[in-house]
Amino acid sequence: MIPTIDSKRLTAALVAAALGLAGAAPDRAAAVPNAGTAALAAAPAGATASHTARAPSALLMGTAWYPEQWPRARWEQDLSLMEAAHINVVRVAEFAWSALEPRDGQFDFSWLDSAIAQASHHHIRVVLGTPTAAPPAWLTTKYPDVLRVDENGRPEEHGERQQFSFSSPRYRQLARRIAEQMAVHYGHNPDVIGWQIDNEIGPPSFDQETRSQFHKWLQHKYGDIAALNEHWTTAYWSQTYDNFDEVPMHSKSENPGLLLDWKRFVTDTWTDYINNQAEVIRQHADPRQFITTNTMQWNGGFDHYTVHRSLDMAAWDEYVPGGRYEWLDYALQHDLVRGYKRANFWLMETQPGFVNWGPVNRSLDPGQVREIAWQAVGHGADAVLYWQWRSALNGQEQYHGTLLGADGTPVPVYREVQKIGDEFARASAALSGTTPHSKIAMLQSYESRWAIGFQRHQKDFDPVQEFEAFYRPLELATQASIDVVSTDAPLQEYALVVAPALNVISEQQAQHLAEYVRQGGHLVLGPRSGMKDPYNALWPQRQPGPLETLLGGRVEQFYALDQPVNLSGVESGDRRASIWAETLEVLSPEAHVWMTYDDGQGWLSGKPAAITRKAGKGSITYIGAWLSNGLMQAVAAHLLEEAGVTPSLPGLAPDSPVEICERSGNGRRIWIIINHGTKAETVPLAVKGKRFIVGSGNGATGNDLQLAPHDVVVIDMSNYQPTISGGAR
Ligand code: GAL
Repeated sequence: MIPTIDSKRLTAALVAAALGLAGAAPDRAAAVPNAGTAALAAAPAGATASHTARAPSALLMGTAWYPEQWPRARWEQDLSLMEAAHINVVRVAEFAWSALEPRDGQFDFSWLDSAIAQASHHHIRVVLGTPTAAPPAWLTTKYPDVLRVDENGRPEEHGERQQFSFSSPRYRQLARRIAEQMAVHYGHNPDVIGWQIDNEIGPPSFDQETRSQFHKWLQHKYGDIAALNEHWTTAYWSQTYDNFDEVPMHSKSENPGLLLDWKRFVTDTWTDYINNQAEVIRQHADPRQFITTNTMQWNGGFDHYTVHRSLDMAAWDEYVPGGRYEWLDYALQHDLVRGYKRANFWLMETQPGFVNWGPVNRSLDPGQVREIAWQAVGHGADAVLYWQWRSALNGQEQYHGTLLGADGTPVPVYREVQKIGDEFARASAALSGTTPHSKIAMLQSYESRWAIGFQRHQKDFDPVQEFEAFYRPLELATQASIDVVSTDAPLQEYALVVAPALNVISEQQAQHLAEYVRQGGHLVLGPRSGMKDPYNALWPQRQPGPLETLLGGRVEQFYALDQPVNLSGVESGDRRASIWAETLEVLSPEAHVWMTYDDGQGWLSGKPAAITRKAGKGSITYIGAWLSNGLMQAVAAHLLEEAGVTPSLPGLAPDSPVEICERSGNGRRIWIIINHGTKAETVPLAVKGKRFIVGSGNGATGNDLQLAPHDVVVIDMSNYQPTISGGAR
């Protein structure tokens, strides 16, 4: 059994303990000393002298480092340059399997021992990647059955990465063995603070083994094939199955019930894949060493809430391929990842300027690497790591942004990173133990995203973009992080809960939401909500299905739009909706219509587009159309007013590119204020008497703070009145 570490407080404490922070998880920290002779005496060969290492701060800056790609003689220079940039953590080894296990069952950790020891001398701690995203050539040659097969039946070859099948029992064994060897060797090493399992897991395999596991999974879920036939309505097109072995394995163009179950199966298989390694690492490693995996932006390949259940912390890799930073969309990404564990997270990778895999790999502008780092911290990141330190002289990613050039000396962005490192060191103590707090939650459901993705009905109905359309005006209006959480998250702390397109909803989830409303919460459902049951079958009532009674209304009909339509009822210069429109019907005298489609628009003419009903101590709202940005802004203002949520800094224009991120905790309230724009901005905040941790109020004009383009200040607001209000509950 893998211990499930799911509580926000425990997770934060574990990470803090891993960093050797005083006061964090005293029981665990005391049980596993991270410095001193006791630890050294007990440490295995790979352990290094932790007393030479400065205790890392709560806010870390780091880089992906690949010592195996360089002669040992070079390491010292690299580590000195890292230290000079205030880098205090490196992630290593996630692609080094062939160096760690050069032959089947023969392990060589000597080089990694030295690399860790040398890093320690430079006060740099280590996150170890298990190298299972890139199996060695001897492995795939000797055991070709581990190779991944794509949906067209083509097996992968060596030379790329992720060429293994996630369901292969043999691969699981080999992956567990290398993870175990590493855990035995480094599990008590005081310089190793945590583990990253694999690297950006994702692509499923469509091999025979996977097929047979899928069938077993279905059998376990349904028990009886008759139950599957009923829930998937297989009478349709003569799909009826006599036994589980007959069920096909597809990820598209299939029965919607099958497609949703395939995604769940993929989720469970990846969860199991991760747990296979997490479990064995936990058996051998100190509990202070956290276990995570790095995820990709908006990756819908599996349910991230499920995969993260047995991990200690979430981490993600932020990239801006075109070099044009859409700050609100990345704010949402951070909020999404914070929601995986409902706790702070790490930015495990981000670009020092540019990537190599977009169509035009433009570099971020000067100052933007810093802007991005601080935004991540503002939304709850406790570490920012750059990918990568230096390009290997050969290999697929020679053009990617780095901190050093091919000659081994700093490239221009190194100085910017050095500045960030210096600032992180200064802000670390103040930010330790703090996290963003929000009065707003947005519900993100992989099942709903998938279900809409299988049948968009309107090609432009991208559920991620629709989510962004709801998020952006709410973030802008409140200038604060929003908690993006799963549908079963506790909701009582929120004044407003928004579910942009909760297409798939179970009875249980409906009850959870209804209870939130009755207790005084304000729930807002967006278009396409409440249409499907957990089998991806239509609810046998109109939308929002099991929430119809609470709403006192329902969807009369849905329509895909090929051109915008106009709506009335909310004051806005822009009154359009596009892509999707549902006409609503009022069933209860308590439900009131506050937005309607204008006349002269066919089926939509004069019909309700949004209704609200007060229920219990709260309210439930249904919005049936994908609103334009302008209209959505006006609607967001209305929803926030109803819920009593006010902005952190009144007086900041709603379209301002200035973001105010607040982190609080440990009796402190810290503001990270960022100008995401390309022009200088004035922020209506009195600077006199405030304690600036990063930046200064020197540019202030009169009472206001002046921020240059892409500039950041960090201010200790602990002695000022809390301004993120809300909760008219
Ligand atoms: C990430 C990956 C890294 C590197 C990076 C380049 O997705 O985890 O190994 O390839 O992209 O942008």
